[in-house]
Amino acid sequence: MRLLHSIITISLLFFTSSVQSVALTINDKDSICAAAKLVADGAWNYYEGFKYGGVVGMFAPPNYWWNAGEAFGGLIDYYTFCDPTNDTLKQWLYDAMYHQAGENYNYIPSNQSMTEGNDDQGVWGMAIMQAVERNFTNPEAHSWISMTQAVFNTMNARWDTGNCGGGLRWQIFTWNSGYDYKNSISNGCLFHLAARLAKYTGNSSIYIETAEKVWQWMDDVGFLTEEDNGNSRIYDGAKVENNCSTVTDLRWSYTYGVFMSGCAYLYNFTGDTIWQTRALELVEASLSYFFANKIMQETTCQPYNLCNNDQRSFRSLFSRCLGLTMLLMPETRDQILPYLEASAAAAAQSCSGGDDGVTCGENWSAAGWDGVYGLGEQTSSLEVIMSLIVEDPISIKTGGSNQTNFAAGTDTEDNVNKNELNITGKDRAGAGILTAIVLAIILGGSIWMIF
Ligand SMILES: *[C@@H]1O[C@H](CO)[C@@H](O)[C@H](O)[C@H]1NC(C)=O
Ligand SMILES: *[C@@H]1O[C@H](CO)[C@@H](O)[C@H](O)[C@H]1NC(C)=O
Ligand SMILES: *[C@@H]1O[C@H](CO)[C@@H](O)[C@H](O)[C@H]1NC(C)=O
Ligand SMILES: *[C@@H]1O[C@H](CO)[C@@H](O)[C@H](O)[C@H]1NC(C)=O
Ligand SMILES: *[C@@H]1O[C@H](CO)[C@@H](O)[C@H](O)[C@H]1NC(C)=O
Ligand SMILES: *[C@@H]1O[C@H](CO)[C@@H](O)[C@H](O)[C@H]1NC(C)=O
Ligand SMILES: *[C@@H]1O[C@H](CO)[C@@H](O)[C@H](O)[C@H]1NC(C)=O
Ligand SMILES: *[C@@H]1O[C@H](CO)[C@@H](O)[C@H](O)[C@H]1NC(C)=O
Repeated sequence: MRLLHSIITISLLFFTSSVQSVALTINDKDSICAAAKLVADGAWNYYEGFKYGGVVGMFAPPNYWWNAGEAFGGLIDYYTFCDPTNDTLKQWLYDAMYHQAGENYNYIPSNQSMTEGNDDQGVWGMAIMQAVERNFTNPEAHSWISMTQAVFNTMNARWDTGNCGGGLRWQIFTWNSGYDYKNSISNGCLFHLAARLAKYTGNSSIYIETAEKVWQWMDDVGFLTEEDNGNSRIYDGAKVENNCSTVTDLRWSYTYGVFMSGCAYLYNFTGDTIWQTRALELVEASLSYFFANKIMQETTCQPYNLCNNDQRSFRSLFSRCLGLTMLLMPETRDQILPYLEASAAAAAQSCSGGDDGVTCGENWSAAGWDGVYGLGEQTSSLEVIMSLIVEDPISIKTGGSNQTNFAAGTDTEDNVNKNELNITGKDRAGAGILTAIVLAIILGGSIWMIF
């Protein structure tokens, strides 16, 4: 594994020095950006778009399409906060994010139908919303805001009252396992996008209504609960059989993040204290469950060394959401910031591994690099470091683009669960073959990782 990794790292290397490590002074922007650059360059080492025959906008296996969406949200922030005059970087980001928009500009590229669930589309939607709020140069024909609206509309149209009283299913496509499951992160992405679109566009009608609908349903179905001690919990989800009554009680940082920051946007926009109360409860719950000695961890799996490749990336989105919450609700800043500072310092000191000397680890409590590496380790470290210098999101009112399209995405068949479409025998056979190919790639990828 180390040998193969070395070959790959060397072939992609941007810098050739031997062992370095990432120095970080937590209250100095230049130091934060210098650290972020090293860590971001480490993330680009996994990028496929530079490789001969590689796909623009994708990272090396075992990273799926969604991992790319998650990564680009953080890399857009990096470009905005730290390196806004770097036109090369800007072009990489623009090409990657536009290339993956799909045939209908709604982040459902047809060749991802074997992997894409509602949460995957939602996380890409968050990256595109990040481009919107960072005033990232718009494509001429399809503005970032209109594409985010398309993501929102296609997701919202899949709201399924046929089971469990509502909610989005995990999967979009019937043939993917998990189609019979409803989960909090998919619904959280819809909630989160609704909140940000309300604030950005200043148009509350559909967006606030949707946010309320999702929150209410999460509560009804028991995915969102309150313990006797007042501690909020957000559980993973449930199978639709038995009306979602058997809830899988696992908790993930990014799910807390999307709901918490969604509440913060809603409170900031509406001034309705119900959202303030909800945000504060989730801040409390997040800080108490996903940190040990103020150092961020993916508590459900990390202490047991059981996190899979996806789970090892969740802290990137979680960090981004904590940073946004702190801005939109300044009253939470004193509470959140010490946790982000301690975590950023711990993450930076973990970035001392690999052949490049700046590969980040998973266990930030450990002294130095813990030997784990991957895109998730890089982007989680990157985003927690950058959360210390997070900048205000813009909105139309404060000078953002008003190239909205409230109906974007409503005119395609992508806005229904794919079981409601007429899938012909030929399509099914095609799907089977694709599944086999994808499985082969995934298995090949993981064998390569384990080997
Ligand atoms: C532009 O950004 C990339 C990615 O961070 C970096 O490798 C490169 O050195 C930057 N270019 C300049 C001129 O700073
Ligand atoms: C999927 O489609 C994109 C264009 O949308 C293309 O560039 C890419 O090569 C295709 N294949 C994969 C595996 O992404
Ligand atoms: C507000 O959103 C609705 C769709 O929900 C749209 O029809 C309307 O044009 C929007 N209003 C403005 C002022 O943008
Ligand atoms: C199914 O669950 C939903 C959400 O909890 C609830 O509103 C509905 O009454 C339940 N339906 C049945 C038949 O139990
Ligand atoms: C709303 O968010 C902005 C940051 O984007 C912040 O400056 C402002 O104080 C917030 N408003 C309230 C009422 O908290
Ligand atoms: C992470 O590092 C800390 C400090 O060295 C250690 O106590 C803990 O057991 C480590 N966690 C894992 C899963 O190895
Ligand atoms: C965006 O433009 C529409 C149409 O010109 C206008 O109705 C709306 O008020 C604008 N939105 C904002 C927030 O200024
Ligand atoms: C956003 O970018 C546009 C085009 O470059 C520019 O005109 C506008 O002033 C920018 N808005 C903000 C808030 O920076």
